Amino acid sequence: MNPDDLKKLAAARALELVRPGMRLGLGTGSTAKHFVDLLGARVAGGLDVLCVATSQATQAQALALGITMSSLDETPELDLTVDGADEIDPELRLIKGGGAAHLREKIVASASRRMIVIADETKLVERLGRYPLPIEVVPFGLETTRRAVATAIESAGESGELVLRRRPDGSALVTDNANHILDAHLHAIGAPERLATALNAVPGMVEHGLFLGIASGAILAGEGGLRLLGAIE
Ligand code: 5RP
Repeated sequence: MNPDDLKKLAAARALELVRPGMRLGLGTGSTAKHFVDLLGARVAGGLDVLCVATSQATQAQALALGITMSSLDETPELDLTVDGADEIDPELRLIKGGGAAHLREKIVASASRRMIVIADETKLVERLGRYPLPIEVVPFGLETTRRAVATAIESAGESGELVLRRRPDGSALVTDNANHILDAHLHAIGAPERLATALNAVPGMVEHGLFLGIASGAILAGEGGLRLLGAIE
């Protein structure tokens, strides 16, 4: 199976968790996109659910499929969020934000009773950090914030390069929230909780991609079949 088939397999398993009347958070990225496609087919068949998207891209996809969409203002509490991840460790700690959507993804997942991660099994790592950690920052005072983020990373006992994420045309990437992303190339994160605490204290840092204590379970698809981590049902 190619990686895309594996992502779809994980998405299909997550769809089994959906019940009529549920309020769902819809993730962002290629794996979450499969889940939204499959959900759309069920909605076309009569399933009644109310959903909140984690990005403009997912919102557009879901609306095109005829899924009834809401906002966290109208629907502040959700039953289940299904989303992908860039890395997952055995303690269900995640790195997210490869698609620059981690701010809304974290808000939506935190508003949900359960967050289930769907991924192909290559996303499972012993230690977080090989994937660059996305850090969303406001454009105002970017260089000052960049230096403060670098100091916070150092104070947390980590080290690595901070790179402003750019679009293919070379301009700074702008998120759905009109912010920028600094990608921290840390290679291995020794203490994710300590790093998260240090980053959270930086003015101008809006949200980082460490999801700690948020995911309830993960559905990982590999050549050997599905592997479940944590609480799925
Ligand atoms: C977007 C994310 C995605 O969930 C993450 O990047 C995984 O994406 P994909 O399913 O395409 O591998 O965090 O901000």
